[in-house]
Amino acid sequence: MFTSSKRRRTVFEDEQSLSTANLSEPIGREQELDQIADAVRPLSRGQEADNLLVHGPAGTGKSTCINHVLDKLDEETRVRTVSINYWKYNTRPSLLTQLLIELDYPAPRKGKPIDELLTALKERVDKGRSVAVALDEFDQLAEQNEVLYDLHELNVQTESCCGMVLASNKAPSDIELEQRTRSRLGYQTLEFDIYGKDDLEEILRNRAVEAFRRNTLGDGVIGRVATAVADEIEVGQGDCRHALEVLHRAGREADKENADKVTVAHVERAMNAARFGE
Ligand SMILES: Nc1ncnc2c1ncn2[C@@H]1O[C@H](COP(=O)(O)OP(=O)(O)O)[C@@H](O)[C@H]1O
Ligand SMILES: [Mg+2]
Repeated sequence: MFTSSKRRRTVFEDEQSLSTANLSEPIGREQELDQIADAVRPLSRGQEADNLLVHGPAGTGKSTCINHVLDKLDEETRVRTVSINYWKYNTRPSLLTQLLIELDYPAPRKGKPIDELLTALKERVDKGRSVAVALDEFDQLAEQNEVLYDLHELNVQTESCCGMVLASNKAPSDIELEQRTRSRLGYQTLEFDIYGKDDLEEILRNRAVEAFRRNTLGDGVIGRVATAVADEIEVGQGDCRHALEVLHRAGREADKENADKVTVAHVERAMNAARFGE
């Protein structure tokens, strides 16, 4: 069944580059990238960062952009960067433990009391290099005020600076931070707007260059996906992730038929399949 010698045609060059599991290079979003970079840049001079709360609906590229800026900061400066996702570490002790692990603390045991975790963190951060911490899916975290306070204290009580980039799907007004926390942190906000048809087209086109073999994308394929998903986004459904999935599935539909090009009909089929699956 799977070992037939008949060579099957495929439209894909590198299917993996349509995957939404790995964060890829951001396409567009130059202004947002600049603003995130501006917020963390002082760390590279050993000065305090502007804490930043990045917010906007899911799939608008927040994580992609934050990770990209932090990767560059890591590559190009002495600043240490740590990125933690709250879906995985959504309590104060688990987050602080993970932060220690990311800062190369030798194997902290689970279940250490908070004050021991904080002391260990202070020791790590005091080693002289500033740290940029990205807290992704921040709205998922329990004890938000406490964690922000913990990180703020690292800034105050150590020689080094600790800058925070928070990402949230909720608007700042819907995140219930205490007034105390807000004023102490003095964070700035950056909103990621939803993508329109043109934005999606640009992203899909860029990703398609690596994903598909030359001349395998029929006329109007990317436009069709971008239009359909932009319409969904307008009514509060779908996002960029979904657009990439539809294009990916359309390619698979073409492969199923052994076709040499992906067509708009494959896109339609991919979208119908998605609807049934939802
Ligand atoms: N500007 C962009 N350039 C390239 N890919 C993007 C862009 N925006 C979103 N994506 C893709 O869409 C998916 C969702 O983006 P993500 O950054 O996780 O959004 P958010 O964090 O806002 O929910 C990612 O897998 C990424 O591949
Ligand atoms: Mg995200």
